[in-house]
Amino acid sequence: MVYESQHPLVKHKLTLLRDVATESKKFRELIRELAILLAYEATADLQVRPVPVQTPMGEAQGHVLTDKIGLIPILRAGLGMVDGIWEMMPGAEVWHIGLYRDEETLRPVFYYNKLPTSPTVQVCLVLDPMLATGGSAIAAVDMLKRWGANQIKFLAILAAPEGIAALQTAHPDVPIYVAKIDQRLNDIGYIVPGLGDAGDRQFGTG
Ligand code: PRP
Ligand code: URA
Repeated sequence: MVYESQHPLVKHKLTLLRDVATESKKFRELIRELAILLAYEATADLQVRPVPVQTPMGEAQGHVLTDKIGLIPILRAGLGMVDGIWEMMPGAEVWHIGLYRDEETLRPVFYYNKLPTSPTVQVCLVLDPMLATGGSAIAAVDMLKRWGANQIKFLAILAAPEGIAALQTAHPDVPIYVAKIDQRLNDIGYIVPGLGDAGDRQFGTG
């Protein structure tokens, strides 16, 4: 399942994010806001159970989330998507996966994993602003499945059709939520028209 947001706020903020004139501070702010909007759409099917709640006026029927949620940012660029979502669901756990893309081969290289030995969450939201060839996303989901995660959703801001096809082929059970599916990858594996290098633009390292 691929879900491309049609929300006007997402379209507006994505336009600002793409703009080459948007500086790092604003870029981080937009990544944070877009992540919240995407997470809102991606969590519409979370399970809740009914609980009574006492209001100043009497008793109401309320609900609480039943599943423990894990936020799994792929370092570095996924980090910027954590804080806003975490504010919306402060009970979530955050588990980091470190991956970078080899510039020559475009293959993902692992450098950090501190997942505990067995899963502690029921729903994993994998966060990475860019789904390009799909190599990093597939490697992260492979790792989460080896860990024992059984409900995984992938959230990206921009995706290339090539990356979506690759992730869907490797992991057809993992729904993909994106702000926008762009045209294609260029010959060095960047999304076109894209937004450039999401990590460098967030961290001012470009
Ligand atoms: C970027 C991006 C993804 C990956 C996408 O990370 O944040 O993790 O590339 O490319 P793929 O779909 O072809 O694997 P990058 O390797 O630039 O590392 P960074 O986040 O540390 O800058
Ligand atoms: N990683 C990025 O940061 N941007 C792209 O366009 C592709 C991969």
